[in-house]
Amino acid sequence: YQNKIAKLKGQMKSYPDFPKPGILFWDIFSAISDGQTCTLLQGLLVETIRREFPDIQAVVGLESRGFLFSFAVAAELGIGCVPVRKRGKLPGEVIAYEYKLEYGTDVLEIQKDSVKPGLKCLIIDDLLATGGTVNAAANLLQSCGAEVSGTLVVIELEALNGRSKNMVYRNRARVIVR
Ligand code: PRP
Ligand code: MG
Repeated sequence: YQNKIAKLKGQMKSYPDFPKPGILFWDIFSAISDGQTCTLLQGLLVETIRREFPDIQAVVGLESRGFLFSFAVAAELGIGCVPVRKRGKLPGEVIAYEYKLEYGTDVLEIQKDSVKPGLKCLIIDDLLATGGTVNAAANLLQSCGAEVSGTLVVIELEALNGRSKNMVYRNRARVIVR
């Protein structure tokens, strides 16, 4: 298991000062251009869900890089895949959640009918950095009455302590690579 993780980590490139000065950009695409790595990462994600979140009923992928992993694991586990998107991208009735960024605010949306009250769901994204995105998604899901079982990300930038942002998921965040 540790070997697999080391292999994956070795394949991920990071770019300092992208897209803005001071931000270290971890590029998941550099790792998954390799077919074996796709299979390896898919296996690690599915294994983690089976072990840590055995009773979830849906995965909620966060636009856009979270979508890569939410559909892949949902298909393998045979559970639903629900998108949380940035403002104005989802048709029909949506529920919105506005949250603060370093400068200004942003809005995440979910389709009203995509989660039923009590639905046990797992948030999936590529990266946990400041935690702002996952925190907003967790609040949005709770406002719909969903039960957020936790969060699964491929990479956590531990130094930013993003998981401290939200009481709901901070002890229930699972990470493939730190
Ligand atoms: C990146 C990344 C996470 C988020 C993490 O997404 O994919 O979703 O930022 O940062 P945070 O923990 O500080 O909120 P981004 O908004 O750049 O968009 P993308 O996924 O569409 O590339
Ligand atoms: Mg993202």
